[in-house]
Amino acid sequence: MTQTDRPQERLIETYRKKAKHYDVTSRLYPAPGYPQRAQRLQAVRALGLRPGDTVVDMACGTGLNFRLLERVVGPGGRIVGVDLTDAMLARAQDRIQTNGWSNVSLVHADAAGFDFPAGVNAILSTYAMTQVPECAEVIAHGAQALSGGGRWAVLDLKVPGHTPKLITQLGTAIVRPFAGIDEWTMRRPWEAIRTAMQEELADFSWTELFFGTAFLAAGTRGSGTSGV
Ligand SMILES: C[S@@+](CC[C@H](N)C(=O)[O-])C[C@H]1O[C@@H](n2cnc3c(N)ncnc32)[C@H](O)[C@@H]1O
Repeated sequence: MTQTDRPQERLIETYRKKAKHYDVTSRLYPAPGYPQRAQRLQAVRALGLRPGDTVVDMACGTGLNFRLLERVVGPGGRIVGVDLTDAMLARAQDRIQTNGWSNVSLVHADAAGFDFPAGVNAILSTYAMTQVPECAEVIAHGAQALSGGGRWAVLDLKVPGHTPKLITQLGTAIVRPFAGIDEWTMRRPWEAIRTAMQEELADFSWTELFFGTAFLAAGTRGSGTSGV
């Protein structure tokens, strides 16, 4: 294994251990009482989906967004869940079978190398993109694959700007198991995400959530080839 493989291997191992109980433990994520469901709903709304649309859920984990997406795309739509961790996808597969969703498919892939289906109507990523070192490239690849008018939305945690230390700790709790908080805090991946979304998409919007501990970034693929 090379030096560069190690962080990713650690991440996969962490999520393999978390997968079985993720649906329960994620309710405490990143802290008990955190308005995660409200944030997910806001992110799904930002996609402007319609019945029959195709949506990619990037780094879908166990598929906690699938029900919300199903409600809007309906049985005539399509959901493609992509994730790096086999055990998280196995839980997502259980969810698909339990609910009898025949329009949801899963892809075991690294976001960085994923070949987005051309002409997809929307791409969503929740609580994952700041863990992807190549997040800017992933946003660019996704933007190029969107149909004209298609929407990209990224919801994730961040370190708040000017807030008490306790809130800052809340915002960084998520990365504790697999990455140094100092590294994540210093790297500030949400800034790279913001810049990439701004460059690649039209109608860019950036909304800070829950005292700046999370953000929702969204934008639209323009009708031109550059996306803007
Ligand atoms: C905190 S979980 C979030 C899962 C889901 N999106 C949710 O909202 O519950 C982060 C997920 O990102 C996935 N992930 C991290 N890096 C990835 C990458 N480079 N490519 C694809 N998935 C990745 C992990 O395997 C894990 O399932």
